[in-house]
Amino acid sequence: MGKQTWKPGNMLYPLPAVMVSVSDREGNDNIITVAWAGTVCTNPPMVSISVRPERYSYHMIKETGEFVINLTNKKLAFATDYCGVKSGREVDKFKEMHLTKEQAEKVKVPLIKESPVNIECQVRECKELGSHHMFLADVLAVHVDEAYMKENGKFDLNAADLITYSHGEYFLLGEKLGKFGYSIEKKKTGKKKRKK
Ligand SMILES: Cc1cc2nc3c(=O)[nH]c(=O)nc-3n(C[C@H](O)[C@H](O)[C@H](O)COP(=O)(O)O)c2cc1C
Repeated sequence: MGKQTWKPGNMLYPLPAVMVSVSDREGNDNIITVAWAGTVCTNPPMVSISVRPERYSYHMIKETGEFVINLTNKKLAFATDYCGVKSGREVDKFKEMHLTKEQAEKVKVPLIKESPVNIECQVRECKELGSHHMFLADVLAVHVDEAYMKENGKFDLNAADLITYSHGEYFLLGEKLGKFGYSIEKKKTGKKKRKK
């Protein structure tokens, strides 16, 4: 069987589905689920989120120039979907999903306490691309849940049951296949090195 060729569209999957917390100038808070999100620079640490201007959250991000990316896990899957289908115009998503607001360090927008990782962001630029406007932002601070800190001081993010979004569906991360650079690692032969 061959391959079908489709018209241009969005088929870059899997993606993160993150809960982005936002606030307006009056201090009203909201959450919007975003899949069009990514890391765009290591140093300085920068991320992007793309949001349709008709979203209630859009004007909130525009007003304050701040948002927090909250990573999502199995426990947050239901709330992640809910925050992506209900609008803050009609419901208080924090209240409906029993999510706890936690004070951020650098921005006025609250963190979602139940999320394993919170990334505080400050908008540097808004690019009006078309259906979506992309907010390019600097990462100001990162908070990680101590529950996933190991005794050796390493953060075991992959123990946090993170979820991913692929072609309209949510998944848990699957089996570990390798680690960064494993393709060029020397295979262990089992032979012990002889001391000289
Ligand atoms: C999995 C998922 C991913 C989504 N990704 C985006 C996105 O990247 N950008 C966007 O503007 N809307 C996205 N949405 C839709 C918004 O989250 C949705 O319209 C939400 O109700 C907007 O909330 P608000 O009106 O309170 O801002 C997504 C929804 C879901 C369920």
